[in-house]
Amino acid sequence: MTGRVVVTPDLDGLSHEAASLLLGLMGECRGDVSVVVSGGSTPARLFSLLASDQYRGRIDWARLHLFWADERCVPPESPDSNFGNAHRALLSKVPIPQGNIHRIEGELPPEEAARRYEEDILSCFEGTSLPAFNLIFLGIGEDGHTASLFPGCEKSWKSERVAVPLYVEKFKSWRVTLTPTVINSGARVVFLVSGRSKAEIVSRILGDKGDETAFPAGLVKPINGPATWLLDQEAAELLSK
Ligand code: 6PG
Repeated sequence: MTGRVVVTPDLDGLSHEAASLLLGLMGECRGDVSVVVSGGSTPARLFSLLASDQYRGRIDWARLHLFWADERCVPPESPDSNFGNAHRALLSKVPIPQGNIHRIEGELPPEEAARRYEEDILSCFEGTSLPAFNLIFLGIGEDGHTASLFPGCEKSWKSERVAVPLYVEKFKSWRVTLTPTVINSGARVVFLVSGRSKAEIVSRILGDKGDETAFPAGLVKPINGPATWLLDQEAAELLSK
């Protein structure tokens, strides 16, 4: 089994758990904190919580640097843009300095976007070729993908780069994603997984008979200790107690 599993009653509970994790980290760390968020629908509730009166005033936004695990190669105003969705739900509502927002420029050609993102990240982690983000939030698809690392893209697992462009056959579209090397160097890696549609893949990765290595998400093996899996009850329903 991979990592620590925390089960909450629902998506709202999961999102509060994730927000508390972030607040705890901000309290533990002196200076700037680097946090990677993922796209898709799961983080939306977390974003709205962080922008809410309950949390907004408790976060030192000047110290929080936000990065993305991946991005679709679309303009930021596209409804498919992970940055665009985070901007609408969170970034436009909190006093985070522009310089703390490290988006992937999805409007650029994929290789250029990946290279510029890599340069931006490395400039934030001076003196190291392997950035170690303080906290990385990941999602998981029903096919076991995470970030934009889909089944069949194993060759990117060996990449020593920080970020790479990937053509995703399944969606016939380009994406830019952090590489497993960088994901696994994160100080804390946390999967946020909600909903009955994820129960099967969660059990295939975390279950007693799970075959974690069969899926990209299962190959996330952070060097600083196992990932944490924040699941709501529906996503965890096929796991033994
Ligand atoms: C993306 C994400 C992706 C996401 C999973 C889960 O760009 O789509 O980074 O890896 O985390 O597909 O998506 P949901 O939260 O929508 O289920």
